[in-house]
Amino acid sequence: MSNLRAKNNVIIAGGIVALLVVVGFLAFREEDNTSNNLSDEQTQEIVQMPHIHGLSFSGDGRQLIVPAHIGLVIFEDNQWSKPDIPAHDYMGYSGVDDGFFSSGHPGVDSDLVNPLGLVRSTDSGHQITTIDFAGETDFHFMAVGYENHAIYILNPQPSASLPAGLHYSLDEGETWQPGTLAGLEGSMTQIAVHPTNTSTVVIATQTGLFLSEDFGDTFTQIGDTGAVTAVSFHPSGDSLLFGNTRLYTYDFASQTAEVISSPEFVASDFIAFVATSPVGQDIAFATFGKDIYLSHDAGETWVQIAREGVGINSNPGSDVSAVESPLQDGQELYDLYCASCHGANGEGQYPENPYLPDASGLVGAPPHDSTGHTWHHPDAVLVEIVQEGRAMPNVHPMPPFKGQLSETQIMAILDHIKTWWLPEQVSAQATASANFTPAAP
Ligand code: HEC
Repeated sequence: MSNLRAKNNVIIAGGIVALLVVVGFLAFREEDNTSNNLSDEQTQEIVQMPHIHGLSFSGDGRQLIVPAHIGLVIFEDNQWSKPDIPAHDYMGYSGVDDGFFSSGHPGVDSDLVNPLGLVRSTDSGHQITTIDFAGETDFHFMAVGYENHAIYILNPQPSASLPAGLHYSLDEGETWQPGTLAGLEGSMTQIAVHPTNTSTVVIATQTGLFLSEDFGDTFTQIGDTGAVTAVSFHPSGDSLLFGNTRLYTYDFASQTAEVISSPEFVASDFIAFVATSPVGQDIAFATFGKDIYLSHDAGETWVQIAREGVGINSNPGSDVSAVESPLQDGQELYDLYCASCHGANGEGQYPENPYLPDASGLVGAPPHDSTGHTWHHPDAVLVEIVQEGRAMPNVHPMPPFKGQLSETQIMAILDHIKTWWLPEQVSAQATASANFTPAAP
């Protein structure tokens, strides 16, 4: 028993490390950014997805729904849009036949406590109801059966109401039973629940894909594809769609895994989420690099519908995809990528005590306005900090934005930050930038 427990803990801890790498820095709340300020010549909405935390089709198969850190965004009739609903940062999002279940963080305008705990919505996210664990736990590893609504969660830390480990509920969260996870190997990457059979659950790990038919007590490996980074059940329950650098199906009747054709995507990227429409032949996947691909014929042919987190709208009546140019406006970029930590007006994470440790013992994100030190650094140094990020002792980490923001976009953000400085700070920093010579390698 104690052996088993030790092993479970290792798996859980490993999963959490993997998750930190995967989801990046989400400890901070997000500003509500709608990113749909259209200029006159633009007819289509530009939807930006700062992070992707899931993927599902609506019950009628018409909408592809993406929890994107700024709330849910939707791809329907070849167009992206951001519906006018509360912009919660959903984590552990699970689409079901009549809506979704999720965990995550409330949007800034919300009265809900952080974290959300376990919530559900039956009206496309207009309203969410709290099931349990509000203010207590953010579940990143959770999944809910499409029809049976069997909820499986991995509790990352013991809380007042629930011990750590895998738990499932068959009564929409009233009561919970543990699953002992025997036979599971490798760090967990994702979990999926059978749509109708409540005892059947699949866990993807860095070793492979594992199936349990006894409520998560014992697992056996299926297929031999190596690490699996995303998995979901077909809404019929007959097969699985899963992936790593390639996309596969697993058929329960023949017990075989098969590669299905998937588009070439950046070789270093991995599939992060997969989804199958409950009607028709549509399947979709999203990568960690925030590219999204959609197929209308079960994977025979594909269209790319998002590139690096920017939605691609197709022009109606033509099959040519119109790629929106990435955002260049410094203020919009700042609001989207920086304001959640550094404050909407550069006042810093803790304007009262910017350089004192918070309850976690770490100093928060510093101010960028005239009260801060940012203006002491020449442009080249600032660009490098933003590209590479920073991890110093006793300070919260600053995430790297290399690969996410181009140098032009970073310079546009810096120009916006400079509007908060005093004239003498602006000129001192301009001189420092002009005189800056990089250290010899
Ligand atoms: C997840 C929170 C977070 C986000 C998002 C974030 N930062 Fe930071 N940033 C920090 C923290 C924390 C530090 C302090 C790190 C340190 O000093 O080790 C920091 C430091 C910096 C610094 C150095 C400041 C100085 O005065 O020396 C710059 C410049 C900076 N951030 C710019 C940005 C920009 C631009 C963005 C958006 C593209 C951004 N940050 C997004 C948390 C964040």
